[in-house]
Amino acid sequence: MKEEKIKENLMEKIVSLCKRRGFVFPGSEIYGGLAGTWDYGHLGNELLHNIKQSWWNKFVAAREDVYGIRAAILMNTKVWEASGHVAGFADPLENGEKFNTMFKTQIGAKKEEITTSYLRPETAQGIFVNFKNTVDAFHPKLPFGIAQIGKAFRNEIAPRDFLFRQREFDQMEIEYFVRPNEWQKFFEYWKDEMMEWMEEIGLDMSRVHDVEVPEKERAHYSSHTVDFEFEYPFGQKELFGLAYRADFDLKNHNLSYQDQDTGEKIIPHVIEPTFGADRAFLALLLSAYSEDNLGNEPRVFLKLKPTLAPVKVAIFPLLHNKPELVKKAREIYANLKQEIPNIVFDDNGNIGKRYRRQDEIGTPFCVTVDFDTPQDDTVTVRDRDTGTQERVKVTELKEYIKEKIL
Ligand code: GAP
Repeated sequence: MKEEKIKENLMEKIVSLCKRRGFVFPGSEIYGGLAGTWDYGHLGNELLHNIKQSWWNKFVAAREDVYGIRAAILMNTKVWEASGHVAGFADPLENGEKFNTMFKTQIGAKKEEITTSYLRPETAQGIFVNFKNTVDAFHPKLPFGIAQIGKAFRNEIAPRDFLFRQREFDQMEIEYFVRPNEWQKFFEYWKDEMMEWMEEIGLDMSRVHDVEVPEKERAHYSSHTVDFEFEYPFGQKELFGLAYRADFDLKNHNLSYQDQDTGEKIIPHVIEPTFGADRAFLALLLSAYSEDNLGNEPRVFLKLKPTLAPVKVAIFPLLHNKPELVKKAREIYANLKQEIPNIVFDDNGNIGKRYRRQDEIGTPFCVTVDFDTPQDDTVTVRDRDTGTQERVKVTELKEYIKEKIL
């Protein structure tokens, strides 16, 4: 299929697929919606979870120098005063008046006890306020990082473009603490690490561009920023960011680090790789969305990596009205499901339609029990991207699939 044809109305196609197939629904839809909010359905939730898991595995679980944290969303207002967000986290309004995009909320019931708080606009501050706790508990040596995945909230003036600009979204952030004279080295190091992960999850890297952010456009805390921009159908815009926050945050929170061997006390500098999970999700769908003709029939398929695909394998009996095929397919399904999560059984409609349904949600493999199965104990395994089928022995199926998807 021609590239231009696929790109035609691509956002409309993605939004419609997401709703129809249970990836993403408009927030509060039965009450007319709520601008800037989206709800993830079963398959979207699974895909988002896999994105976060892949991120956590690479940047926390597989490393020795990064510690995880899960901080409270509600924080003492003093945090947001010290971090500069109360004074400086604002977007310009049309008439030039600035508007602070933090959501204000109240804590406490009795009038005289009520205090103002904010829903966090970045997960980063939950990391900084736990800097000392993490150092005291784990005694890390510089350089080291603290990472968090969690919700952030911004009262965006104009939420738009599906998941791109929401009022509530998931961030995946690392604050990496380094010796001040080493910041450039680690800035470059994290730039490479970020690119590597983007490639690993299957983003179309020809649509990703790193762009230096000029001083007047940088966030109030940043001394140097590189944005990774993605070519969305609505323009080339920010996907992720990499900021050099220097000593801005630790200094403002009155925090420092003491080297246990030398006794030297310093304020480490911070390199911050930051990722929006929802933007990763959107960019991934845009990268994976494909159309072609298979067997002279047009089809839509999501070319997701098997590790990220929300459904790994679909098991079918060739015909739903042949009890011996249904029974065998059910047996295989039950057996695989013990060890392979996220596999489905489907005997609805004809086999061609079932393949198309799985292609559209990115299921990498379909297993069909047909009339040869009772004879030779083999099934067909169909590859999503090529449509080619291979006969595999039932006794070897579990290992065959595991090797390809895990
Ligand atoms: N702690 C740094 C920080 O918050 P940011 O560039 O303002 O930096 C980080 O946000 C990431 O969060 C962005 O690169 C983007 O992926 C995501 N993000 C920001 N605002 C968003 C919004 N309104 N909707 C969805 N994702 C958003």
